[in-house]
Amino acid sequence: MFTKLSLIALGLLGSLSPTRAATPVTYTSDAANSNLRIPLDTSRTSGPTVSNIFVDATFEICDVDISVDITHTWTSDLEIDISLDVDGPDPTTDPVDMIRLQYDDCERTDDLVVVFDDSSTNSLDGASEDEPLCDDNGVDVRPEESLSTFNGHQSTGYWTLHINDDAGADIGTLNSWSVILTPCEPITDGAGTGDPHFKTWVGEWFDFHGECDLVFIDSPKFGHGTGLAIHIRTKARYQYSFIESAAVQIGDSVLEVGEYGNYMLDGVSNAELEKMDDKYPVTHKKVNSKQHIFTVELGEGKQIIIQSFKDLVSVKTVGASPEEYRGSQGLLGEFGTGKWMSRNGTVMADADAFGNEWQVLETEPKLFQTNRFPQHPVKCSMPGPEREGRRRLGESTISMEAAEKVCEHWGDLKDQCVYDVMAAEDLELAEAGAF
Ligand SMILES: *[C@@H]1O[C@H](CO)[C@@H](O)[C@H](O)[C@H]1NC(C)=O
Repeated sequence: MFTKLSLIALGLLGSLSPTRAATPVTYTSDAANSNLRIPLDTSRTSGPTVSNIFVDATFEICDVDISVDITHTWTSDLEIDISLDVDGPDPTTDPVDMIRLQYDDCERTDDLVVVFDDSSTNSLDGASEDEPLCDDNGVDVRPEESLSTFNGHQSTGYWTLHINDDAGADIGTLNSWSVILTPCEPITDGAGTGDPHFKTWVGEWFDFHGECDLVFIDSPKFGHGTGLAIHIRTKARYQYSFIESAAVQIGDSVLEVGEYGNYMLDGVSNAELEKMDDKYPVTHKKVNSKQHIFTVELGEGKQIIIQSFKDLVSVKTVGASPEEYRGSQGLLGEFGTGKWMSRNGTVMADADAFGNEWQVLETEPKLFQTNRFPQHPVKCSMPGPEREGRRRLGESTISMEAAEKVCEHWGDLKDQCVYDVMAAEDLELAEAGAF
């Protein structure tokens, strides 16, 4: 993650090492699904407690661990199972699987604070209260049935912890719990937003402030050769730059989205939106007078989302998988690794050089209806020392202080939010969500 200082001083991110293996992602029970009595029924001392964690990200699972934090005065009263339900917290179909984590172990020991992990060498199976592990908090233990049953499934859905207290007298509390999922591929949602910032296939951000048309994604293998390409057009304003329009091509269909939700489908303004290439549904939602959201459904919950907030446009992929993007090229880097690949397959290290590498060439198909200067072979207009130098002074009608205040809750992305708000000259951008 870049520092604010580097953003202010340079206005762009310098080199970074864009390789990363898939790292586990932890999803923890929210307030409504934590601090639940065991059993849930307050009039009873035995019975079930059920708690859900909804995972909205979609990826293929390569490993699952489950951590639980349970307070209870007689651990062996508890039977604990985990399931994945794809169609809601009260599923109408059978769960993907119901895996037994723990069954009546540790006798009268207090509390169960463990991580169930297939690769653990510890086991509580059949343990008596003399087993020292029963008193350890935070230890990892093997579940009674293997969590590897979930491997190969898609992650999205309601992960449900089922706790049954099958004896009377003692009660307890499910304080919280987590699902820890390791994706098979590194996280695979790319994005181009605001000032403009780009997020590679492995989630690493970089800035590129050149003004030109750029290849965001080019994936000829998409849809068994149908092909999918996204071009973006960047624009400089004051000391900022942003994406002013984006064009998505699938097969022979092209959807172009610009400021204030203006769009064209196959060159026709405000055309009726139904399907792209007769197959991929596309919808347009006007959130309010400033914000519009276009969604292209690629199937199985995978999407391309283009938003406009006033005259700023953002593009992101949701739930990308190798079938759509393996072997693709463009600003999101190499699929699966996020490496900054050049057109000839070499790995690049400089953000400016990488951005310029993906300027749309004169030999490439043009996705935008109109040409705007500069077009290759004229190179992208890069911010000169003057534009960079003024970056921190701010000609925006929004003050840095005001922007920082509304962007406070953006965490790691606060700096990006601040520049987007100032470029858009609109504090409401900070509330527009993940623009
Ligand atoms: C490959 O592309 C990079 C980046 O544009 C360039 O610097 C390099 O010279 C190219 N190499 C070959 C062999 O064409």
